Formats: sequence, C-alpha cells, structure tokens
Amino acid sequence: MKTTTFEEYQTAYQKSVDDPEVFWAGIAGHFQWRRPWEKVLDWNFTEPKVEWFKGAKLNITENALDRHLAERGDQPAIIWEPNEPDDAAVTITYSQLHRRVCQFANVMKKLGVKKGDRVCIYLPMVPELAIAVLACARIGAIHSVVFGGFSARSIADRINDAGCTLVITSDGAFRGQKVIPMKETVDDALERCSTVKNVIVMTRTRTPVSMLKGRDHWWEEEVKYVDADCPAEEMDAEDVLFILYTSGSTGKPKGVVHTCGGYMVYATYTFANVFQYEPGEVHFCTADIGWITGHSYIVYGPLCYGATSLMFEGIPTYPDAGRFWEIIEKHKVNILYTAPTAIRSLMSFGLEYVKDHDLSSLTKLGSVGEPINEEAWNWYKHNIGHDKTPLVDTWWQTETGGMMITAIAGVTPEKPTYATLPLPGVQPVLVDEAGQEIKGNGVSGNLCIRFPWPGMLRTTWGDHERCRQTYFSTYPGMYFTGDGCLRDEDGMYRITGRVDDVINVSGHRIGTAEVENAINMHLGVVESAVVGYPHDIKGQGIYAYIITENKPDDPDMMRKDIAATVTRVIGPIARPDKVQFVTGLPKTRSGKIMRRILRKVAEGETSNLGDTSTLLDPAVVEEIKEGAL
Ligand code: WTA
Repeated sequence: MKTTTFEEYQTAYQKSVDDPEVFWAGIAGHFQWRRPWEKVLDWNFTEPKVEWFKGAKLNITENALDRHLAERGDQPAIIWEPNEPDDAAVTITYSQLHRRVCQFANVMKKLGVKKGDRVCIYLPMVPELAIAVLACARIGAIHSVVFGGFSARSIADRINDAGCTLVITSDGAFRGQKVIPMKETVDDALERCSTVKNVIVMTRTRTPVSMLKGRDHWWEEEVKYVDADCPAEEMDAEDVLFILYTSGSTGKPKGVVHTCGGYMVYATYTFANVFQYEPGEVHFCTADIGWITGHSYIVYGPLCYGATSLMFEGIPTYPDAGRFWEIIEKHKVNILYTAPTAIRSLMSFGLEYVKDHDLSSLTKLGSVGEPINEEAWNWYKHNIGHDKTPLVDTWWQTETGGMMITAIAGVTPEKPTYATLPLPGVQPVLVDEAGQEIKGNGVSGNLCIRFPWPGMLRTTWGDHERCRQTYFSTYPGMYFTGDGCLRDEDGMYRITGRVDDVINVSGHRIGTAEVENAINMHLGVVESAVVGYPHDIKGQGIYAYIITENKPDDPDMMRKDIAATVTRVIGPIARPDKVQFVTGLPKTRSGKIMRRILRKVAEGETSNLGDTSTLLDPAVVEEIKEGAL
C-alpha cells in the first residue's frame, strides 16, 4: 500500500487519475472481504451519490482484529497511558482486544442492540472507548461518538438527531487536575431524549452516580455474564459504519455519515502510506477519539494495518508541559501526530521541558487540524524532530474521512506551512468566486475536489438535501471543502483557512451561528455576532459582539454569565474569548450583518475597513472601533 519513493508516488498518482477504479481496487485487495464487490465505483456529484465497492461484504473488525490474530495476536494493539503519570500504563494485545470487543459486543446484543441501531458513546480517553467503538462495528450498530467537552444539551441534540437507543458513558473523567462528571451530564441530556432505552456506565473516577433501575447498567457487571465469542455481522461495503457530528456555517451540527468499505480502505491506506508505518512502530496520535482524527488515526487506520496505537487519557500540560515528551521516552514512541495548537502551547513553556527527554525513538512527525504557522513548524521540526525526522502537515476534514493533501513522510518534499501535494486518488481544484477553475500555479482560490475518493462522506444523517446543499451546490459537479487555498509556483498547496462562517479554535471546528444562538439565549441579550480572530496559541479565538437590552452594570460579571450560558448550551470549547458590548451591529440596508467589518476590528485592523457606504448606520462602526478589545 505504500509508495516509498517520489517516483513511485508520481506513478501511483498518475494511475489514480487515469484509472481510479483499477487504482483503488488494487489498494482494496489488501483487505479481507467476505465477498468481492460488484462495482468499484458508482457516482455523481449532483444528487450526490457515491458508492465504493458496492456489493462487497465485510466487517471492519475482522480487518482490525481477527485477521491479525494468527500473526500478531501477542503484539500490543493499544497502549494506554493514564492521566496520572504514576499510574500504570495498560497494554492490550490484539488477542486481548479481540476478546474484549467481542465480549462487549455481546453485552450490547443482550440489551437488544441490532445492526443499523444507533449508539451514542460519551466516554473519556480510556481503552473502553476504543472497545465500545469496535464493538458497535462488530454487530453493525452505528456509533456516534460525542466528544467529552460537549454539554448535556449538545449530547441530547445528537442523540435525538440520530435516534440513538443506547448510550455508553462513564461515571466521570480525569483531565489533568480536574474530575469531570460524565454520567450526570448524560442524565441531564436524557431528560430531553425519548429514544434511549439503555445506558451502560463504565467506572473510571468512582464519582457517585445515580443508576436507574431498568435503564442503567454497569459495564463491569454486564461483561461478567457474556462470553467472548461474537461472530462479526456481515456488512455491505456501503452500510453505515458511523455518524460523527461536525459544525458548519449554518444551523445545528450535521451528522457526517461514513460507510464500512470505503472508509476502511481510505483510513488504512492513508495511515500506512503517509506515516510509512513499519511493523512494530508505536504510533501516538494525541487527538481525542471524539473527533475524526481519533476515529481514523487512533482506532481504525492503525488497527486495520496491524499497528500499535497509543492512547493518552490526559492533557499535554499535566502534570507539566513535558508530558508528551515523557510519554514518547517512556513508550519509545515512533510516530507523533498532533495539532499546531498543542505545539504552540508547549513551545510557550520553553525548551527546558523538552531537553531532558530522550526523543530519539521518533521516526516521523505529523500535524493536523488547522494551519500550522512557520514558527511552530520550525520549532517542531528542530526541537522534536532534531531536523532529521520527516514532518508531514496533513490537511483533511471530518467529511473526507482521511488525509487528503499532505507530504508522505520522507518520500515527498516538505515545505513549512504547506500541506504540499495531494495523495494518490485526490484531485484538488481551485475555483474563483464565479465558480471558474483557476488553472496553473502561483494562484489561490477556494478548494474543491473534483473526483470521489473512498473515504468521503456519503450523506448527512437524516437530511441528504443538506449534504447536497452544503458540499455540492456551491460549485456544481465538485465537492466544496469550505477552505481557501494557495497553490505556489511548484504546485504545492497551502491551506489558508476557512472561507465560510466556521472557526477553528484549538483545532476544534465551531460554527459562529451556533455560538450566536447560544449567546442569544442569555437573559438580556438582544442580538450577537461572533467572528474568529488570530490567537497565539489557539490559532483562532472567539470574539463576540453583543447587544444587550440595558447597558450592563457589571460588564465583567455579565461576560462570565454569558460564558456560563454558552458552556451550558454547547460546551466549554465554545466559550467566547472576548466579549464586546455594543449598541448596534454594522448592517446593510437589507439587514445583513457585515461580518467583514467585525472580523477586521477583531483582528485589530481598524484603519482600513473598506467600503462602509452601504451600511444602514455607519455610526455604529465608530462605536465598535472605539470599544475594540
Ligand atoms: C482545518 C480535522 C490547515 C481546515 C481533520 C478544515 C487544516 C478543518 C489542516 C477540518 C491543515 C485541518 N492545515 N488547515 N493541515 N487540517 N484543517 O473536520 O479548515 O475537525 O476544513 O477535521 O480544519 O476540521 P475537522
């Protein structure tokens, strides 16, 4: 599956464009299928309809677990590093993982969960999270993992949208010094949900929790009464594997749908190829499984390839800013895959946290989730990679299922701040506002993809029209990414950031409309407008302009109260960093907020606001400029 020289990459790329079906059938041949496909690809981007390997039968867990048992049953599949550095790390071999997944799959079966049922998973970064995910896949249940930083309300919205019948959670979570309630949050969520019949609770923190008779079950208790034999459900390549909710520019988060066959092929191929994974290497992806990066590069990609995947429960700064480096030394990590926000944060603590650790095991470095600035790129390459370890900047999205534009470690060229070249199978296009393709090099535009790849989303759960509208209607015949992009003189791609109303805070995608809706629910708030602004550590911060009924007596207290409301409605990750109280917002005569002006003010660029003559009341701009934070 790997292309190990630049020439091989070029040949593979050309083949993937000239003859995509032959190319992908070749890659798919590396997997275990119970029955082969009838057709490699069937597609159109108008409905849209995308089907890969249709008619093929498989179960992804047979690829992630069963097929490794003979050869590497005793090899670690998961190494788990707990929050507390002094607590023992846990190693789970492929045979142990197989056993635990089958066992837990039987627990779900016993509770009546069947193929096609939706299961919400709300767990901290413990092995049981990976086990729950795989157990769903084992029986054909569709998992919807919700990141632990989301509120009860956000969980409820996701449960209701997908109609989940089972929730899997824990009593609490350890994150650095904090103990965070999980079951209690689920209980609050379930007050709004009518589809959930059962809740399974795993013990982590021993936080007292309420357990309702007939609905709630202890994980540890249930696994005692089932055996570890659970034949895998036979799935069609195009059956749904999971739903993962993500933010867009409008409305509530949408459930991105990935299917079994194409996603498996794509996540695994990109993992193996981009990181040039060698047998026995330890791969440490620092993402949370609640995000797509964790789905594809902690669970499915590495395990389907028979790799060893390290899962870390805690945070990079606990007990101090040396934790990542300590983990790398302790577990002899070979591949580190992390986000620019983590790098910038650790950079700010200085090199003393790095210097005493032996990082010589590292063979490959990766970055993901947001644009990486040059300073962070260089720091990472120099101080962590000692200038000899390849560093790949991987651009992709929840919707793409796996990496799209990235260097291949040690194989294709690197360039700081550039995602560089498309992987085989990926056909990027830059388009202008009028939808015309911008050809040639040394140009920038909106990034689209013109041909399907196996890992792409198939629909948005329960609302196919929304999928069409969001991704396939802006530029007919193409998938629109929502990102701006530059292609330099050498044909290398650099992602410049979102061109829609999505902001990327610490690598987390947040829709400005969602934050505004939450703020508007606060007592005394009349209207609000939220934009992103450059933030040294987080990449982008959240800047909120808020109109209140009355001038706040204690603006600081009101800011805190509003933050509390946002935390309650969405979760702590969406809390505004800056709140400016205003008496009006810059609106056009047709009532549209001119966000361009608000963005400029938030960026501190008040001297050149461009044309403001179409504004209903140009005076508000002066007030906003004066009060800028
Ligand atoms: C941004 C995360 C620049 C981009 C895998 C994209 C990046 C959004 C990069 C998707 C990168 C991700 N360079 N920007 N290497 N990787 N992005 O869905 O704006 O959480 O559209 O998927 O993150 O975020 P998501």
